[in-house]
Order: sequence, then C-alpha cells, then structure tokens
Amino acid sequence: MAETAENHEVSDVVPSTAETTAEVEAVLDAPVDRGEPILQVRNLVKHFPLTQGILFKKQIGAVKAVDGISFDLYKGETLGIVGESGCGKSTVAKLLMTLETATSGEVFYKGQDITRLSGRALKAVRRNIQMVFQDPYTSLNPRMTVGDIIGEPFDIHPEVAPKGDRRKRVQELLDVVGLNPEYINRYPHQFSGGQRQRIGIARGLALNPEVIICDEPVSALDVSVQAQVINLMGKLQDEFELSYVFIAHDLSIVRHISDRVGVMYLGKMAEIGTDSEIYDHPTHPYTQALLSAVPVPDPAAREGRDRIILTGDVPSPANPPSGCRFRTRCWKAQDKCAEEVPLLAVPEVFAGKKTLAAHESACHFAEERDVVHAA
Ligand SMILES: Nc1ncnc2c1ncn2[C@@H]1O[C@H](COP(=O)(O)OP(=O)(O)OP(=O)(O)O)[C@@H](O)[C@H]1O
Ligand code: SF4
Ligand SMILES: [Mg+2]
Repeated sequence: MAETAENHEVSDVVPSTAETTAEVEAVLDAPVDRGEPILQVRNLVKHFPLTQGILFKKQIGAVKAVDGISFDLYKGETLGIVGESGCGKSTVAKLLMTLETATSGEVFYKGQDITRLSGRALKAVRRNIQMVFQDPYTSLNPRMTVGDIIGEPFDIHPEVAPKGDRRKRVQELLDVVGLNPEYINRYPHQFSGGQRQRIGIARGLALNPEVIICDEPVSALDVSVQAQVINLMGKLQDEFELSYVFIAHDLSIVRHISDRVGVMYLGKMAEIGTDSEIYDHPTHPYTQALLSAVPVPDPAAREGRDRIILTGDVPSPANPPSGCRFRTRCWKAQDKCAEEVPLLAVPEVFAGKKTLAAHESACHFAEERDVVHAA
C-alpha cells in the first residue's frame, strides 16, 4: 500500500450492479457521431516558474498548474470541466484563449496549432474563441457604458461591425441576451448580477465566435439567477451553434449543461466521458468521492447512500506526488500507484465491454461503484 492510504476514513461503497436496464442499453446502442472536433487539446502543459532572489532571479522550481492534459471539443457541444480549487481549470481556460503561453503541448483549432501562432493569424483565431468570466461585478469596467463594453471587441475587429453599424449591432446583442436595447447608455452598477452576466455574455458573442470558454460563469450569482443564465446559454448555443467549455465546481450545474464532463485533479484529467458515464458510472475514485459529497435532498435516497470522505489536503502543484497524483488521498492506493503514472484511457477491465463504465479514466484500479447523488 502507498504510505498514506491506510488512515483514510472510507465508508463502504456499494459495488455496482450489472447494467441491464433498457435506458442504459439505449444509450449504448445510440450511434455517436460528434463530427470533427473544433478544438483538440494535446498534452497541454503550463508550469509557472518559482523564483528566488531580487536582482538575480533564480528558478527554484515550478508550479505545475496544468501537466499534460488532452481532450477534444466538438461543434455544438458543451464540455464541462470540474475539480477542486487550484486544480488548474482557469489555467486551462487561459491556455485555450491563448492568454497564457503553453510550456508545451498543442491546442488545435480546426486542425491548426494555435499555441505557436502570433500576429494576424493569432488575431483571426482569437475572434473565434471568446470567454465569459466568473465575476460579473469585477469583469466589467464600471466607467464604461454597456454599449462601449459590448462594442469594445469591434475596436480590435472592425470588420465584424463597421463604426456606423455598431450601435445597432450592440442593441441587437442586448436583445439576444434578454436585455432592453434601450439600456445601451447605462453603466454596469445600474444592473443586477444576473443582468451583468448577460452583458458579459453579449460581449462574448459580439464577434460571432464558434467557441466560448466559460470560467465559472454563474458561481457568483444567486441560485435562482443561475438557472436563468444557464437557460440563456443553452438557448444561445442552439441558436448560434456554439461550442462551450464550461468550467465550474458545482457538479449539478455542470451536469445540467454539459454533454461531456472532464474531472480534473492537480493539473491532470482524472476521468472524462458523457454526463451519464461520469455521473452514473464513475470509475475513478476521485470522481466517486466528489459525487458522493453532493448533497442529496431526498431523505430516502440519502439514507441508502454511503459517502466517501476524503481526508488530507490537495498536495501542492509545485511538488505533486509521484505516479498517480490522487494517491495521497485515495483509499485504493497500492505500490503501483506511486510508481506509474496512470494514463487517461479506457481501463482494460472495461475495454470492449458494453457498459457505460467503458470510458476514459486515469486509474490503475478503475472500477465501477454505485454513487447515489442529487444530480
Ligand atoms: N500566474 C501564476 N503564477 C503562479 N502560479 C499560478 C499562476 N496562475 C495560477 N497559478 C497556480 O496554478 C494552480 C492552478 O490555478 P488555477 O487558477 O488554474 O486553478 P483553478 O482550478 O481555476 O482554481 P479555482 O477553482 O480556485 O478558480 C494554482 O496552484 C495557482 O496558484
Ligand atoms: S491509480 Fe487509481 S487506485 Fe491508484 S491512487 Fe490513483 S486513483 Fe487511487
Ligand atoms: Mg479558476
């Protein structure tokens, strides 16, 4: 056993029963044609150097914020990314937006590696990949009118809306996100939190992008307002064939909006699959623990469930554990987990099997468990 596994308090989690329901069969039999990916992320790495000294800075290490992540994003889909604070979600978002330079790895947009682009070529790609930020209170400049905020991207890309057309285009965008076009001259403080996030979404849509990276877009909003913004995003996705990367820590929200979900842990992808695969048939211990921690409102369901209580803090990304990064908190850790990095792949035990557990999971000892959850 790995050195830290024994002192973890783990309840007995019920082993999964065989999947024979018509529902599961139907999902498995349905042909999956996602078309060509619009974004392909390959072995993406971002290490932030740790330095010492004032005049002569010496690198003494690195924060391995993102450490070899791969996934695809398909046209018109929403890929949710979940994980604890500090696991590297926002860094992934910034790398996809080319706001950070990758240490290594590639991000292909329609087949072109955007991590090596500069100048005009980069500008053209950036137009197609936009972002909606977490905090609608701080991400909007309080001294600018809503019209100027939403229209600002047109300064960089005047070809999308020439000067004479801008006001009309901004008013159209306000209408699209459910705000009164007459509000164009108001300032951010004159809007509620939900309305401000609608302004952020309108700004994200201004350049007719194909991909929108949403970094915790509703986390700062009240629950009732969250639903309205999520519904708006779903409507806009259908209308404009948008692809979303939706980053959040609320598992229920992510399930609600996502077609597929990736679970991150300490700079790595632990598990990725469709929402049914991840939420109903998780095979990675970390995902199982996350799901078992989601509050269940139904007392009857709550009674029958076993919670996995993770102990210990997330290790520092500057000094991650060898082998599997989750091993210092994993109740199933064995010697192999400290020696070999588990690759993100369909585990051998499920390969070729007709089961929703047959999805990519970075665990040497992946197995299915029933987890009763609220989502
Ligand atoms: N510019 C930077 N310089 C040094 N370290 C950084 C920098 N940006 C992020 N980090 C570190 O990288 C790690 C990942 O950070 P990131 O913001 O991507 O996490 P996150 O998953 O988005 O967390 P949260 O859920 O709290 O938003 C953290 O340890 C963070 O401190
Ligand atoms: S490889 Fe699997 S069993 Fe081993 S520590 Fe990691 S998550 Fe746990
Ligand atoms: Mg973040």
